[in-house]
Amino acid sequence: MGGGDIGIHKKVYFGTNTKMFKTPSEAVEHIRQLKELTRSISRNEIGLFVIPSYTSLHLAIPAAGDDILIGAQNMGWEERGQYTGEISPLMLQELGVRMVMIGHSERRHIFHETDLEEERKVKCAIDHGFHTLLCVGETQIQKEYGIGQEALSTQLKIGLHSVTAEEARRHLWVAYEPVWAIGTSGVPADEHYANKMHRMIKNTLIELFGCDIGNAIPVLYGGSVNNENAVKLVCQPEIDGLFIGRSAWDADNFDSIIRASLHALHTN
Ligand code: PGA
Repeated sequence: MGGGDIGIHKKVYFGTNTKMFKTPSEAVEHIRQLKELTRSISRNEIGLFVIPSYTSLHLAIPAAGDDILIGAQNMGWEERGQYTGEISPLMLQELGVRMVMIGHSERRHIFHETDLEEERKVKCAIDHGFHTLLCVGETQIQKEYGIGQEALSTQLKIGLHSVTAEEARRHLWVAYEPVWAIGTSGVPADEHYANKMHRMIKNTLIELFGCDIGNAIPVLYGGSVNNENAVKLVCQPEIDGLFIGRSAWDADNFDSIIRASLHALHTN
């Protein structure tokens, strides 16, 4: 997948991070509904994932079965140690978690995680065989000063510093989430701007891992995706999927976005 081809042969990724919003029972209900609603969509066509809170993971995994990949919202970079409040790769592995998100904008900006910390977490996640979703995005100020590209390239080059091309091919996904586009005060990125930034991300991935692998790593767009803009975004040639917050927390709405996106990709 990736590489800019649009059409029914391109696998499209749809995922949601439920942040600190759903209790375990709410998370399971959401996943059950989503699984049921999307039952008729071939998993060769879509990659579907949900990233609930740590406390929901043990229930979310059996509820999701093979239809929905379940990820963790963060992870510590050591297997064990004196890190009160952290969750290690061994703990996630024992629950059957297969995906980990690293460097979400809220981790970087509210909890002040640095690129060097993201690098350690990415390395640890990849060493433990997780699908690793690294989130990157420029701030409003960086955009205004015309250094969005530099900001993305810095986050990618530091965050992926210790990843080999083969590891990237097997384990790495990237989410482009401009900080100014995320959450209730976010303004969704225009699809052409998002497409341009995705191309820049892919160019950096090519620099790091070579052309074939750099182009094949899925790069998803996130930040105020909703029913109005999802189709325009997903139809852009460099956008390999949508990473959605609020608009995906209602399973019916998430299913409508997925179906509208697939319909548009098929008819384009
Ligand atoms: P949003 O969240 O869709 O609610 O803006 C996106 C995200 O934070 O991943």
